[in-house]
Amino acid sequence: MSGKPLAMVTGASSGIGWAFATRLAEEGYAVCAVARREDRLEQLVGHLPGAGHSYLAADLANDEDLAAVGAELSTGAYQLLVNNAGLSVMEPFGEAPLAAEQNLLNVNINAVVALAHAFLAHGAEGDALVNVGSVVSYLPTPAMAAYSGSKAFITTFSECLWSQQRERGVYVMALCPGMTETEFISAATEGESDFSSLPDAMVQSPEEVVSEALQALDRRRDAVVVTGRSNRLLSQLPRLMSRSRLIRLMSKMGDPEDRL
Ligand SMILES: NC(=O)c1ccc[n+]([C@@H]2O[C@H](COP(=O)([O-])OP(=O)(O)OC[C@H]3O[C@@H](n4cnc5c(N)ncnc54)[C@H](OP(=O)(O)O)[C@@H]3O)[C@@H](O)[C@H]2O)c1
Repeated sequence: MSGKPLAMVTGASSGIGWAFATRLAEEGYAVCAVARREDRLEQLVGHLPGAGHSYLAADLANDEDLAAVGAELSTGAYQLLVNNAGLSVMEPFGEAPLAAEQNLLNVNINAVVALAHAFLAHGAEGDALVNVGSVVSYLPTPAMAAYSGSKAFITTFSECLWSQQRERGVYVMALCPGMTETEFISAATEGESDFSSLPDAMVQSPEEVVSEALQALDRRRDAVVVTGRSNRLLSQLPRLMSRSRLIRLMSKMGDPEDRL
């Protein structure tokens, strides 16, 4: 035992998860990094500052792997869980195989619920759970129907837990980034697209997202944290127009480069 607080970060092999693991290690946590790509996890744990870090190579869409990660949380040793692993399917619903949509739901919803359950079973005052949603929670985007729905679930689920866990002193946050320069789009388009053509003002770095998340984690106040000024403005769109108009507007987000 290192005597440090322990954090688990899922989806730590790239992007926002990698940045979370790095910042948390810098802030004195011992980090357990979870994802499928073991070589990346080894590289990450090798470069994290301080001692006590570890990794679990796991496919969170696989029942056995998910149970193994849940069992690790069930030790009750963790003070922070960042449920960050997630993916999108960037083909119109009905064109991608059903298995791809179900894999998305398994990682974006089922694993988040299972790991939150295992973590909160041992939640103690001062602990925190961060579930990574998206600004699309506010903006139903027809070009990524299952993804949009999964992130709306994450935000609502986290809001409910935020309320329910307050009495125990456990803080729950839905972290809602917008477009963030990670492997997210290239993973969903098999490398055919990325964020490079987008205006800088619309895109955050993973480090910027994590920096805002950690400030909010210190404040322990907000149920939902939308990162980036332009995303906070976008999240207000539902107040300005009817639901149908909003969906029509979001249906124009046809190119992968336009997606959040
Ligand atoms: N980038 C954006 O524009 C954006 C915007 C809003 C919200 N988000 C959310 O931010 C979170 C992190 O995404 P990111 O942008 O950092 O994308 P990313 O660079 O593609 O990272 C996704 C992470 O999820 C892991 N992952 C995917 N499928 C998995 C599985 N079956 N089992 C275990 N781990 C799995 C990946 O690791 P392996 O491939 O090694 O398994 C990777 O570490 C996601 O929840 C995403 O929805 C992203």
